[in-house]
Amino acid sequence: MEKVGIIGSGLMGTGIAFVVARQIEGETVVVDVDEKILEKSRRTVEGLAARAVEKGQATQEEAGKWLKRLNHTTDRSDLKGAAFIIEAVPEDLALKCRLFTELSEICAQETILASNTSGLPITQIAAGARHPERVIGTHFFNPAPVMKLVEIVRGYATSETTIQKTRGFCSRLGKESILVEKDYPGFITTRIGNGYLAEALRCLEEGVGSAGDIDKGCRLAYNYPMGPFELMDLVGLDTVLRVFESLHQVYGERFRPSPLLRQMVSAGRLGRKSGSGFYNYAKKEKGA
Ligand SMILES: NC(=O)c1ccc[n+]([C@@H]2O[C@H](COP(=O)([O-])OP(=O)(O)OC[C@H]3O[C@@H](n4cnc5c(N)ncnc54)[C@H](O)[C@@H]3O)[C@@H](O)[C@H]2O)c1
Repeated sequence: MEKVGIIGSGLMGTGIAFVVARQIEGETVVVDVDEKILEKSRRTVEGLAARAVEKGQATQEEAGKWLKRLNHTTDRSDLKGAAFIIEAVPEDLALKCRLFTELSEICAQETILASNTSGLPITQIAAGARHPERVIGTHFFNPAPVMKLVEIVRGYATSETTIQKTRGFCSRLGKESILVEKDYPGFITTRIGNGYLAEALRCLEEGVGSAGDIDKGCRLAYNYPMGPFELMDLVGLDTVLRVFESLHQVYGERFRPSPLLRQMVSAGRLGRKSGSGFYNYAKKEKGA
């Protein structure tokens, strides 16, 4: 029986935990710093399992098995013995570096330590780990139970064995993967995606169109499932801002964080998770 660990049970950690518990027989250990966050995460996973039953994707018995595999805990030492650990804490390089150093003290030499960072350098995250050859990027997409792709990122020291094992693990999760050969910030998808988001923010700030019309335009013109402002609200504007800040440090002007985005984060308008962002979710009405 394989043990898998998820550290950080926010938006991404919760979705990834559901996918792991659904696909991998064994224990899924979910670690966070706060009992209340863990409780919310557990309820979300229960909701996802119930929806899978309603949609006829699983029987009640199967969904029950998924939930039994989950162990929500604030005790990081419960990760001991895990074959694979996926980190999904906030997009903060210092925090992730610290965590990887601590994780490599708890875990066996064979454990693969993966980061779900949207674009921070895996090589830097791995620098303090005891076995950097076992550190890798696994960038899942939101919502993790639905989105097919995992972007796998090779750090400078990541071994070929770690890459092959990670590819195998992702396919057992039912995911498609691509390999980012060079550990450049933003990898492939975040670098391209944030270029698009930056231009959408500039259009809004310059008054070229409303958020609603820019979103509708992008959805219909490019056949995207959602427009840039709907996407940022889903991701969380705090996370979007942090990603812009890290890309700006490396690539310069083209990723300078938009003043509007900064203001919205300062005002606590973080998107869906806070009830309002570019759109207002509490009242279920749209309008920037
Ligand atoms: N939001 C998205 O759409 C998205 C998509 C892809 C990747 N990501 C990346 O995934 C990571 C997590 O993003 P998120 O949106 O889930 O963030 P989030 O803020 O929703 O969740 C982060 C969780 O980590 C917990 N945490 C903080 N410090 C911790 C610690 N020391 N130990 C254990 N838990 C800790 C927090 O309590 C919180 O529950 C980030 O690196 C982000 O860039 C996010």
